[in-house]
Amino acid sequence: MTDHDDDLKPLAIEGKLPLKAVGIENLKEDNPKHMPPHRYLHPWFARRPTPAARIAILASILPKGVSSNEILKLMQIGPKVGIDGDIADYVESKKAQEDERSGTLGEHYGYDRPFTSTPTSDEISDLHETLRDFWDGELPKVLDPTAGGGVIPFEALRYGLPAEANELNAVPSLILKTLLDYPVSVGHLRKELQKWAAEIDSVASDSLSEYYPDNGERGTPSHYASTYAITCPNCAARVPVTPKWWLHRKSSNKGIAVRPSYEHGDLELELVELPDDVTKEEFNPQDGPRARGGDLECPNCDIVTESSDIKEMFKQGDYEYQILGVKYTKEGGNAFYRAPTTEDKNALEKAKARINDDMGLFSLLTEDVPPTGEKTSEPVGYGITEWRDFFNPRQLVTHYEYWQAFEDVKEEILETYSDKKAESIVTILALTAGKMIDYNSRLSPYKVSKGYPENAFAGKNFTLQWIYVDNNLSSGNRSYEDMTSRIMNSYEDIAGYFDGVDPTPAKITSRDAADLEQENESIDSIVVDPPYYSSIMYAELSDIFYVWQKRYVSDIHPEFFQSDLTDKDSEAVANPSRFEDIAGRSSSKKELAKGHYENKMSDIFSEIYRVLKPGGSMTVMFTHKETDAWDTLTMSLIRSGFVITSTHPITSEMPDRMDTQGSGSADSTLLLTGRKPHEERDPENAVPTLWSDVEADTRAAAKEAARDLLESGVSLTKTDVIISAFGPTLRVFADAYPVVDDQDEEVPPRKALETAREAVTQILVDEYLEGMDVDNLDDVTEWYILCWLVHEAETFAYDDGLQLGHGIGVDIDEIKRSTKTWRKSRGDISLRGHSGRVQNINEKPEDRSSRLPVDPDDLSFPRSLDAVHAAMHVYDKRGETETIEWLRERNFDSDSQFKSTLKALLQVLPHNHEDWELARDLAVGRTSDVLDLDFSPNVFAEGGDETSQSTLGEH
Ligand SMILES: C[S@@+](CC[C@H](N)C(=O)[O-])C[C@H]1O[C@@H](n2cnc3c(N)ncnc32)[C@H](O)[C@@H]1O
Ligand SMILES: [Zn+2]
Repeated sequence: MTDHDDDLKPLAIEGKLPLKAVGIENLKEDNPKHMPPHRYLHPWFARRPTPAARIAILASILPKGVSSNEILKLMQIGPKVGIDGDIADYVESKKAQEDERSGTLGEHYGYDRPFTSTPTSDEISDLHETLRDFWDGELPKVLDPTAGGGVIPFEALRYGLPAEANELNAVPSLILKTLLDYPVSVGHLRKELQKWAAEIDSVASDSLSEYYPDNGERGTPSHYASTYAITCPNCAARVPVTPKWWLHRKSSNKGIAVRPSYEHGDLELELVELPDDVTKEEFNPQDGPRARGGDLECPNCDIVTESSDIKEMFKQGDYEYQILGVKYTKEGGNAFYRAPTTEDKNALEKAKARINDDMGLFSLLTEDVPPTGEKTSEPVGYGITEWRDFFNPRQLVTHYEYWQAFEDVKEEILETYSDKKAESIVTILALTAGKMIDYNSRLSPYKVSKGYPENAFAGKNFTLQWIYVDNNLSSGNRSYEDMTSRIMNSYEDIAGYFDGVDPTPAKITSRDAADLEQENESIDSIVVDPPYYSSIMYAELSDIFYVWQKRYVSDIHPEFFQSDLTDKDSEAVANPSRFEDIAGRSSSKKELAKGHYENKMSDIFSEIYRVLKPGGSMTVMFTHKETDAWDTLTMSLIRSGFVITSTHPITSEMPDRMDTQGSGSADSTLLLTGRKPHEERDPENAVPTLWSDVEADTRAAAKEAARDLLESGVSLTKTDVIISAFGPTLRVFADAYPVVDDQDEEVPPRKALETAREAVTQILVDEYLEGMDVDNLDDVTEWYILCWLVHEAETFAYDDGLQLGHGIGVDIDEIKRSTKTWRKSRGDISLRGHSGRVQNINEKPEDRSSRLPVDPDDLSFPRSLDAVHAAMHVYDKRGETETIEWLRERNFDSDSQFKSTLKALLQVLPHNHEDWELARDLAVGRTSDVLDLDFSPNVFAEGGDETSQSTLGEH
């Protein structure tokens, strides 16, 4: 082992962090109605919450020893006045009462969400002083090499730090300019933006009015609920390919819809109000011709056309655009709906004709949509071959006119202002293009409860909508005016955040992060939130924005728009469709894609290593799920020469998926920190260490870290403790790298992590289940108890349960059917309680469910868990007296394994769990005389938070 990294001055992130409090703040930010302003500038994917970015930055540059309170204060967490205790405790106690609060979140917590406040100038100057002391007299330079929507460099700037941002893709690069450069270099622009936006809107609206005929009385329609129509192959009727007939659904039997009829030969749509004109029983607008799987039933002759035939018709262009209904938005919210008329149809036709006649439109957006893309092949299958095809004719004309109007004012802007100011105004105005596309394309869903569009990319896919919105951008909700004012207000908020901070504008580059422009050893700290395998295909998804933005601003930002479409070759994602051609028998396209991603990430880490100063830090934000991902990530970091020094999990956001109770558990993000040692390492050529020589050290490092955390009083969950112990463990492992077993085979980092997990679990057992002798229980019972102990919840990630099983030699898949101790729930593990395992003693044996493995009439049980579950059941069904007899008959009154299991369950089950209550009943009263348990009294202590085990900090 070597010790040449000892001169790395420790950072705050290498100590304990107030992870729970930060997690709580992250979740508070997750409110689609009111997000940080930078998120409203332009659509982009995978935005991280502000508190996560703040802690990653601050803890990566502040020295170890800065207190949790100081960090939270800098993060603008906690009330400004009136609390002198522990802020993290305060935040957690507020969280515990959050559901019972009366006022707003801000009132309840006593301070607004952190993103709304920038540190004061005093806070900033104190911070800078500390930082200069630590970083040899200079402020540390922070770089984010895959900056996306930019929250990391943005927050760095808000602390007055020198920040740099790089991003491969042009679309977020425009966001970065607007977020990290203009508000600092040019400042507020409200007057200018308002003026030019109004001019664009007025010119475009004038040119477009003929395509949105108004009927005089109600003004101009704002939205058209739109679908398609095909000709029925059987009866030749015109059939709308719509799943529903609603225009405005207020409840399942109330609202406004259109009803089809073929009485006069052709399709007619009649506006009906439910239940006044017609009831749901007579006409259910929920039952449109298009069924869920895509088959289409003709409302005229009832013949079904299969989804594959429909798809073929679309591919051949054998369909027409069909308006379902027309909406007028009234000021004050009172909307009006009507059925489509011939005039509406003619207006659409007019747009179609215009496209064919107008040279500018004829050749607009004719770039090919990649036919085999992971995300694009589906729409291509429906005949979307060029980017223009994502818009119906009127949508295309609308976007074109807004673009033309923009081009006209662009010239004036460039003549009116200084270069930088003109660039800023033009770029910010161009962002509206992205929003217009989001809310006005064949991908933009019609929100039937509101009658206006939702954004197209919520699902991170190109999903053609069977009811989409043809959106008149000159009127109503989600109009050009709405969009520009959203952008302007956001920009003004952002500029306001910098008033009084006055940082240097960030340097922004648009390159592959594996080939950065930065000089060798020029950066102090890198905070990076890279793409995660195949979760989002950024480049594919953003082409639809790219093709427009290129037309809007490639003259202003030529460096961003070098190619026809976005760069997919250099992108760090696992995209199987890129490997279609070279996949073969030896490796599938999925494997090749994974390999590409891992190599690219590894190149990025090497590049990060190159630009970092010795002693500098790199913190990676990563969605931590499978051990596999850990293995790859840590291996490539070690190979690049990094010393891994810390790992922390933070709760980051609510996932899209929800659990069965509908409440959903939050996703975690991992913060992993590596340091560049002062003395160059050569991991590839180092002398291998034997695993048997480092195993004890990794174990010891993990245990020490866990004990430290337990003693520190910082409130953490037990899984947090395990993950936090990975950092120090990996440090030992990296020091010893490469590690080999006695067969000379390389040992992967996962081995060290498994060892750490086991070691920490042992510490947790010692701490919480002392004297309960869990080790001596049968494996299944032990596993079951450890799962509850560590996860403190019924449901948790499959991989975590698997790892726990490995540690004690349980193959959890093998025991799943025979023991029914757990079941799979959306890929997670869900532990079963006694009621999911024990047969009903009140039923005759022949009537009982054979799926339940535990028979309470048995006299002995293969596992102590079965015995205790059976006892719970008997108590529940037959009461105390019979239970006493039942226990005695089976000699449980003198069975130490039975007692240990019961005691352990009392300790680990959450107090609101049915099994906990039954366990408690067994442990008190007359049954307790029989069992004679010597449990520690804290088992029954009813703390403030009854639902969970006592938190670690209290010990
Ligand atoms: C997870 S996102 C960053 C999100 C950002 N932290 C935020 O909160 O807004 C990852 C970004 O990496 C970019 N990216 C992918 N491959 C890249 C590469 N090779 N070089 C630079 N950036 C890349 C993607 O375009 C995407 O914007
Ligand atoms: Zn028909």
